[in-house]
Amino acid sequence: MNLEVLDDKEAVAQRAAEILTTATGHVALSGGSTPKRAYALAAAREDWSGVTLWMGDERHVPPDDEDSNYGMARAQLGEAAPIEPVRVELGLGEAAADYGRRFRDAGGRLDLALMGLGPDGHTASLFPGKPALEERDHLVAAVPEPGLDPRVPRVTMTFKAFDLAGQVVFLVAGEDKAEAMVRAFGDPPDLGAPSARVRPLSGRLLVLADRAAAAGLR
Ligand code: 6PG
Repeated sequence: MNLEVLDDKEAVAQRAAEILTTATGHVALSGGSTPKRAYALAAAREDWSGVTLWMGDERHVPPDDEDSNYGMARAQLGEAAPIEPVRVELGLGEAAADYGRRFRDAGGRLDLALMGLGPDGHTASLFPGKPALEERDHLVAAVPEPGLDPRVPRVTMTFKAFDLAGQVVFLVAGEDKAEAMVRAFGDPPDLGAPSARVRPLSGRLLVLADRAAAAGLR
């Protein structure tokens, strides 16, 4: 694992934007609030040819709902960004199966996954103790009950998808993430935190954290 400790949340966003601006192939975007600024900066990218953006996880709400990760990513990245939305108009199970099929048909391998870290150690919509953690066969799973707000059903890529990724980059900022950082990336990591189980089998793992989030690791 490579850990880059940056000054603050803005520096994390800038570094993440650099990575997204030069990425090629299949890229999973994370939701939540941390990547928002990174996506706004990456909107400067004009040429997205050779890139397909996927949602690493999505809330099962319409795209114009304030909780929609797609809606957030679309608003920040702009209309030119080639984002494959989860078909939230389908029922939850069907939406997850459809997204998994489309991703598999596109090769089923991420070149890059951008990921967030929740205070409870979750990442994507892989929440502690939930059945999606046990999904071994499929690249995408339904999450009827997430462990944290917003408590709307989710669709998430699974450990299987992240295991196969060429590069996984976590974006983490803020002191409220310091404890989760220790669980996810401390030595030894706490495998009760789903983020501690995201370790690409032959890909690279990079953690971009601000000083506040990384405080417990040094
Ligand atoms: C989601 C996520 C989630 C997120 C973390 C961190 O849809 O909820 O993708 O895994 O990345 O909860 O979120 P913040 O950046 O908002 O702290």
